[in-house]
Amino acid sequence: MNRFFKLLILLLISYSINHVTASDFDETLITIETRKTAMQGIWERVKRLSPYVELKEKVDYNKDLAANDAQEIVKLLEKTKYLWSEKSNLSSKGFTNATPAVWALPDYFNKLYSKAEQSALNLNNAITNDNIDDTVIAMCGLGKACGTCHANFRRLLTSQLANEVSGWSGKYVENCK
Ligand code: HEC
Repeated sequence: MNRFFKLLILLLISYSINHVTASDFDETLITIETRKTAMQGIWERVKRLSPYVELKEKVDYNKDLAANDAQEIVKLLEKTKYLWSEKSNLSSKGFTNATPAVWALPDYFNKLYSKAEQSALNLNNAITNDNIDDTVIAMCGLGKACGTCHANFRRLLTSQLANEVSGWSGKYVENCK
């Protein structure tokens, strides 16, 4: 009987430990998915904004929508900012494309993050004020921040290369200085 109780207690303990670990892990996976989805959302908006910034205006896209997209980028960057817990350093297991450098060089990572945020704010202001030159400068700054951060902190999959060339590499408008 004594042995039976011991076993029962051990089982209970091991179950509760496993349980906690599992849900913790689930949370981490959700964090990773959330930041990826937010980044995708940013990218969607950058894609819509690029032709507008280059004055290749489309009839169904106007100043209000552009300002709104810039505002959304600010919000999404704000949201993604807090989704880099140490626990989510899981690129070796293939759960994330964020490289361990994110956690090894947090200052540089945060610096690029701030640059992206500032550029997105500038972009929003420039669009609102119809300042074409500043709009281009802000878009270039934003592209540079995205591109530099990805080059340093995101693992690039071969399957994403084609997308990368036109996409997240950071060259969103021509004539950036
Ligand atoms: C300071 C760093 C940093 C900045 C700034 C940044 N990103 Fe990212 N981005 C990352 C990292 C790291 C990942 C990989 C995330 C992961 O796999 O968990 C990523 C992933 C992505 C992805 C792929 C998401 C997926 O589904 O796997 C896209 C798209 C993306 N970023 C777009 C952008 C765009 C567009 C900008 C600029 C407007 C931007 N990012 C700014 C670091 C950054």
